[in-house]
Amino acid sequence: MEKLSRTIFFIIFYLFISTPNANARNLGVEKVARLHVYVHDFRAGGPSATVFTVANASITATSPTGFGAVRVVDDLVTAGRDIKSAAVGRVQGLTTSADLKVSAVAVNFNFVFTSGKYNGSTVSIAGRNEFQLAARELPVIGGTGLFRLARGYAITSSYSFDVPTNYAVLEYKIYVVYSKVQF
Ligand SMILES: *[C@@H]1O[C@H](CO)[C@@H](O)[C@H](O)[C@H]1NC(C)=O
Ligand SMILES: *[C@@H]1O[C@H](CO)[C@@H](O)[C@H](O)[C@H]1NC(C)=O
Repeated sequence: MEKLSRTIFFIIFYLFISTPNANARNLGVEKVARLHVYVHDFRAGGPSATVFTVANASITATSPTGFGAVRVVDDLVTAGRDIKSAAVGRVQGLTTSADLKVSAVAVNFNFVFTSGKYNGSTVSIAGRNEFQLAARELPVIGGTGLFRLARGYAITSSYSFDVPTNYAVLEYKIYVVYSKVQF
């Protein structure tokens, strides 16, 4: 009787407890993508604007860093510096002025690729962007499509800024490690 219940226990154990291990995979060959793109940031109001302030804090107007301002972004991403160069996608998300002392934002961005082999894939970036630094580093925290299981980092810098039109071009070098494993 005791032997039987032991046997039943082990059968149940292997069926239910050990089964998930049968589906375990390692990440296989990981790949690295180096993406060098330019982001076109239209901050002025009007029909061509791609950045909008959606909230302010009670201190935003008097804060030296504009603390508390939250902006929604849907910027064009191109392969070259020129806005007329090949479009590769959009960068969409939020920036929040989140530093009381220096101009820095907490960003939450999804790069949405719409051409070439990355078409339909996304890369998610979240981190701190301190504007006075020439080169800012942001973590790549994930991705979809070809960029499933992505991690990595991005280096961003301001390429140009046109004061009258409030139009900035930002350079992004994105280094993404991803895996082609299928679950
Ligand atoms: C936030 O502040 C900016 C500049 O101070 C102003 O232009 C904008 O209208 C404000 N937006 C909201 C939603 O309060
Ligand atoms: C990207 O993929 C979409 C959906 O599959 C397709 O309609 C579109 O033509 C593709 N764009 C390019 C530039 O390949």
